[in-house]
Amino acid sequence: PPLSRVLNTLEMEKIATKILSHKAWAFFASAADDRVTHEENIRAFSRFFFNPRVLRPVSTCDPSTSILGFRSTIPVFVCATGKVKQGHPEGELNITRGCGRTGIIQMVSSSASLTYAEIVEGRISESQPLFFQLYVLKGERAPDRVREAERLGYKAIFLTVDTPVRGNRELDLRAPFVLADQEREAERLARKANPDAPMDPEIDYEKGIGEPVARLVGADDDMSWEKTIPWLRSITKLPIILKGIQCVEDAVLAAEAGVDGILISNHGGRQLEYSMPSIEVLYRLRKEQPDVFSRLEVYMDGGVRRGTDVLKALCLGAKAVGMGRPFLYAQSAYGDAGVERLVRILETEIILGMRLLGATKVDELVPEMVERVDWQPL
Ligand code: FNR
Repeated sequence: PPLSRVLNTLEMEKIATKILSHKAWAFFASAADDRVTHEENIRAFSRFFFNPRVLRPVSTCDPSTSILGFRSTIPVFVCATGKVKQGHPEGELNITRGCGRTGIIQMVSSSASLTYAEIVEGRISESQPLFFQLYVLKGERAPDRVREAERLGYKAIFLTVDTPVRGNRELDLRAPFVLADQEREAERLARKANPDAPMDPEIDYEKGIGEPVARLVGADDDMSWEKTIPWLRSITKLPIILKGIQCVEDAVLAAEAGVDGILISNHGGRQLEYSMPSIEVLYRLRKEQPDVFSRLEVYMDGGVRRGTDVLKALCLGAKAVGMGRPFLYAQSAYGDAGVERLVRILETEIILGMRLLGATKVDELVPEMVERVDWQPL
C-alpha cells in the first residue's frame, strides 16, 4: 500500500512482515523462549490508564525535548539494532536519513551492517547527533571502538549491560545466518583493510554462520560495576548510559556509579525470558526511588508502539523512550521514507494525546496523570 495509507506502527509491521525474507523476519521478530517478556513489554502498557485534565488551553502543543542536551522533536529515539541491512539494502542509512529529516536521534549498533564512519557520512547535516551502542568484546577491541566512535563525533556511549551471553531465541535458531562464500570473503577483506570494522558478535566469521546458542562470540561476560564503569569512564569523555537496566536496585547502583543515564530495557524481550516488562520497572522506580530521576536521565524501551505508550512513560518520569523493531519494519518496507513516516505518525499521536491529556509541554506530563490498574483490559 502507498505510504500515506499506513496509519500506525502495527500496520507498518504487518506490511514489512509480508515483504521480508524469512531470515530477516526471523531475526527482527525473534525473542527469548516463549516470547512472554517481549509480548508483555507491549501488553503491559494497557494496564496504565490516564487521568486526563480538562479546561486547560491546548491550542498550541510542543512535544519536543532534549536528550543528554540534544534537541529531539519528539521524546523518542531509535534504539540500536544490528544488521539493519537484512531488511533493506540501504540499512542503517535509511534510519540516519529519516532521523535527520525529522529531528530525532539514532543510536547506532555495535553490530551495524555498515561501518560507523559510513553512518556518520550518511547524516543529512553535520549537526545531526548520533549515539553509539557498545558491546564490550574481550581484549583490545572495546577501547578501540570507543575511541573511534568518539573521534567520529558520536555524542554518547550506550553500554549494553544485559547481554553477557546471548538469549535463547528460537526463531533465530531455526533460521541461522549463513554467510554466502562471497560474503565471507568480502568480510575477510573488509576486516583486513579496517580491523575496526563492525564485528557482529552474533556471527562466527570463521565458520561463516550465525551463532545460534547462548554465546556471544568474544563478548566480555565478566563485566562488573567495580571494574567496567571506571574503565569506560577512563577511556572516554562522552556521556555513559547503561542500556539494559531491569530492576530498581540496579537503577540505584547506576546512580551511585555516577553514569549519565540509564535505559530501562530487557533488549526487546530477547535476553532473559520473564524479565519484568520495562514499563513496570519504570513504574516501580518512580514509586520506590524517585530520587534517581534527578540524578541521571532515565529512558525506557521495549514494546512502545503508540503515542500514548510514549506519554505513559514520560508521565512516569522517563526523559524519552527508545524504539527498535518499529523502525526496522518501517525501513524494510519503505526505506528512508518509511522511517520519516513512522516519526510523523508518532508525532501526530503524541500531540493528540498531549492535548487530550491537558499538557502542552513534555514537562507537564506528571505521575498523577497515569495510574496502574490491577485488571487487564479485554
Ligand atoms: C536489538 N537490540 C539490540 N540492542 C543492542 O544493544 N545492540 C544490538 O545490536 C541490538 N540488536 C537488536 C536487533 C534486533 C533485530 C532487535 C529487535 C533488537 C535491542 C534494541 O536496542 C531494543 O532494546 C529493543 O528493540 C526495544 O524493544 P522493541 O522496541 O523492539 O520492542
